[in-house]
Amino acid sequence: MSIIIKTESEIEKMRIAGKLASEVLEMIAPHVVVGVTTDELNDICHDYIVNVQQCIPAPLNYRGFPKSICTSINQTVCHGIPSSKKLKSGDIVNIDITIIKDGYHGDTSKMFCVGDVSPHAKRLVSITQEVMYLGIKQVKSGATLGDIGHVIQKYAENNRYSVVREFCGHGIGKNFHEDPHVLHFGRAGEGEVLEAGMIITIEPMLNLGKRHVKVLSDGWTAVTKDHSLSAQWEHTVLVTEQGYEVLTLRQEESGLL
Ligand code: MF3
Ligand code: CO
Ligand code: CO
Repeated sequence: MSIIIKTESEIEKMRIAGKLASEVLEMIAPHVVVGVTTDELNDICHDYIVNVQQCIPAPLNYRGFPKSICTSINQTVCHGIPSSKKLKSGDIVNIDITIIKDGYHGDTSKMFCVGDVSPHAKRLVSITQEVMYLGIKQVKSGATLGDIGHVIQKYAENNRYSVVREFCGHGIGKNFHEDPHVLHFGRAGEGEVLEAGMIITIEPMLNLGKRHVKVLSDGWTAVTKDHSLSAQWEHTVLVTEQGYEVLTLRQEESGLL
């Protein structure tokens, strides 16, 4: 496969899909509280995506994934499966939303802090958001994928966090996952050259301890091998001549990029 350059009409559809995905995260925010189960969060998102937005929740039945969203708590790195487990005070949880509208995908995730979260967990959450933004700011026609990975790895490691290597960002469009692989580590100037019209996700996962992960027997849930906390944030980003356009930007982020 090779990297698909989107036409102006495809870009317009991706803007719509991205906006809808971002709106699911805005809608679910007030529900992410102590005592709610991740199944309940899944069901609220599912109903909103299907009935209000008239979209398809892309994770549902994707390669056998059983739910409509991913919910990854504490030491879960990514691909957590919603369950009857209740959120408790002190948890950090990533909610990852991917919707399909008119054949095109929007993919975005953010961290939520539940109740009273310890300063060390909050710091992991906010540094992970910052490294995502730093990665996004590298994006422009002529830059390379290595430029993105390099700033993410450098800033994460300068803050004594490790970067997960087994999972990466991806091209996105008609397909949930398409070329290229967007690594969250690497060297400036290396890798594929970005061109206007490419659309990629940037979705770094940072661990408080070592970078190594293992996948549980459900075949999906990825956790840190050393049981340390992990955080992830994700946006879908269009490459432009001048720089980037974040297709999944939320209202709360208007001053941040
Ligand atoms: N949304 C994830 C990503 O960012 C992929 C989830 S695959 C699923 O790429 F099947 F777990 F939903
Ligand atoms: Co993604
Ligand atoms: Co995602």
